[in-house]
Amino acid sequence: MADLLFSQIAQLVLFVFPAYVANSVPVVLGGGATVDFGTRFVDGRRFLGEGKTIRGFVAGVVAGTLVGLVYSTSKVDVLGVSEPGAKITLAFLLSFGALAGDLLGSFVKRRLEISEGEPFFVTDQLLFLVVALLLAFAYRPELAMRIGLLGTAFLVLFTFAAHLFFNWLAHGLKLKKVPW
Ligand code: CTP
Ligand code: MG
Repeated sequence: MADLLFSQIAQLVLFVFPAYVANSVPVVLGGGATVDFGTRFVDGRRFLGEGKTIRGFVAGVVAGTLVGLVYSTSKVDVLGVSEPGAKITLAFLLSFGALAGDLLGSFVKRRLEISEGEPFFVTDQLLFLVVALLLAFAYRPELAMRIGLLGTAFLVLFTFAAHLFFNWLAHGLKLKKVPW
């Protein structure tokens, strides 16, 4: 029973891991031109802000997809997905979704007048996961069935905890100015 639970949790974390990598790598490799090129929305504030760079986005998608490439060389299946090509596609969609969700989050934060770098639980911790999962489920609807409500709830809580921990770590390593 405990073994089964552990293997299910391991599968879930393995599955979502490319999205975490995609979301983390920009902190280290980001920089240069911003996705919004400095443009402003009708409210006079930035579309997204200085924290969303093209290099960060591309580096994140590439790094997350590379995780899928590693999976594709292994026999281990990820929530029942065993074909090498599908593992890579899934990792790409999770990574692209994570960073698209991250951009959407910044857009929402700017509209709510939340400053760049200022924490906002809903968008910072959850939107990237939600968009990543939606793209993955659109590609492989059976994954939504396999993960279910319980699995999704676990991923939300796990992601929240992991996000807190890694931001604290990134701050400690002086990669981020603030510990969130
Ligand atoms: N980053 C990047 N490109 C991205 C996403 C993130 O270069 N597409 C880098 C930036 O240096 C950013 C850091 O990663 O400051 C942390 O990302 P995040 O916390 O998502 O952005 P914030 O700076 O907090 O900005 P926002 O308030 O818009 O979320
Ligand atoms: Mg932030």
